[in-house]
Amino acid sequence: MEVAAVVDAVVAGADKMVEEFDSDAFVEVPLVGLGFRAPFADWILDKPDAIECVELTAEHFFDGGEPQLEALRELYPLSVHGLGLSLGTPGKLDTNTLDHFKRVANLANAKWISEHIAFTKTDDVDLGHLNPVPLTKNSLQTLIDHSREVLDACQRPLLLENITSYLRVPEEIPETDFINQLCQEAGVGLLLDVTNLFINSRNHQFDPVEWLHRVEPSIIRQLHIVGYSFQAGVWHDRHSEPIQEELFELAADVVSYAPVESIIIERDGAFPSCDQLEIELKRLEDTCESARTH
Ligand SMILES: [Fe+2]
Repeated sequence: MEVAAVVDAVVAGADKMVEEFDSDAFVEVPLVGLGFRAPFADWILDKPDAIECVELTAEHFFDGGEPQLEALRELYPLSVHGLGLSLGTPGKLDTNTLDHFKRVANLANAKWISEHIAFTKTDDVDLGHLNPVPLTKNSLQTLIDHSREVLDACQRPLLLENITSYLRVPEEIPETDFINQLCQEAGVGLLLDVTNLFINSRNHQFDPVEWLHRVEPSIIRQLHIVGYSFQAGVWHDRHSEPIQEELFELAADVVSYAPVESIIIERDGAFPSCDQLEIELKRLEDTCESARTH
């Protein structure tokens, strides 16, 4: 197929995906919010002005938590983020995990759901963390099939997230083409983790803005962001640092390029005070406003 035809097909597929989102969800400035974590629970449930939306980790609610979930649903637009569906593992999805995931998405009345472009288990081993898939036709098809299965089961828009990788994964298809094709053919969007993109660009020495501009903009619907860690010459995604300046700049680049609807701070360690987080949220809001108005 000619390059122009491929681009047209990607754009047409992305438009189809966009139509599957609630058009009312389009916002002039993306909503800024937090990943729900126990140390911030009381603050989030107090509904401070700085928090405009909340992302729930599905697995945190697999064994209960309904009252908290129902309270949150009354306060915020919610999205539900999964860690363990392992969409990149060939073969059948784990129906038990998918049932639990769907239950949380329904209880939250999630505006959308999300998972990773990754695998967390093989047929017989649960690795317990996200691993990169080889960028091959086979793994692309596995992710497309599993994404469609999740869409069918949950009946909500699905976003897939880019992860970090210390290894350079085998590559039949360039990563950005892989993402564009995945989103087009599965009818899903991209949850762009700005920090993961930045970390990969440093560890593997490429330009994150050039990478961004090879992604079809209409598929980028949500961002994750948190400070990176740097140790012994390697960048890490430990989710335990304040957001650094380069990350605010990259987030602004994405917000001015794509119809991002929300940005979630994903803090999982070295938890700051709520006051500190409030400053970070406000800074993000200002960053988004100025990216969309300039
Ligand atoms: Fe993330």
